[in-house]
Amino acid sequence: MNISVTRRAHFNAAHRLHNPAWTDEKNRAVFGLCNNPNYHGHNYEMEVRVTGEIDPETGMVVDLAWLAQLIKNEIEARFDHKNLNLDTEEFRDLIPSAENICLVIWRILRERLPEKFDLHVRLYETPRNSVEVG
Ligand code: NI
Repeated sequence: MNISVTRRAHFNAAHRLHNPAWTDEKNRAVFGLCNNPNYHGHNYEMEVRVTGEIDPETGMVVDLAWLAQLIKNEIEARFDHKNLNLDTEEFRDLIPSAENICLVIWRILRERLPEKFDLHVRLYETPRNSVEVG
C-alpha cells in the first residue's frame, strides 16, 4: 500500500520569459507581461509529494524533517531571492517558465531521493496557476 507525504515550500524569484531566436514583437505577443525586459517577480509555492511504502520501523514513508531540509538546501538556497535568468546556471539557456522551473526542481530532487520513492512536484506561479511534474 503506497502512501504519499507532501511538503510545501516556497521561494521568491524574478524572471523574464524571452526567446532570443524571436523578434521583440513575437516575444511580447507570446509572453505578454512575462516578457518585461526589466524582469518581474513571483511568489512561487511548491508541493513536493513523495510516495512509497510505510517503513514499519518508523511508521513513516519518509522523514519530513529530512525532506524539508533537502528542499531548503537544494531548491530554496539555489533559487530564493534570485533572478532566475541572470543568477542561476539552470536557466542561463533555458526559458524559466513555470513548466521548466518545475522540471528542474523535479530533476534536482529526483537525483537525491532514494529510487524506491515516486516523486511529484507541483509548482504554483500564482495562486491560480500551477504545473505538475511526475
Ligand atoms: Ni512571470
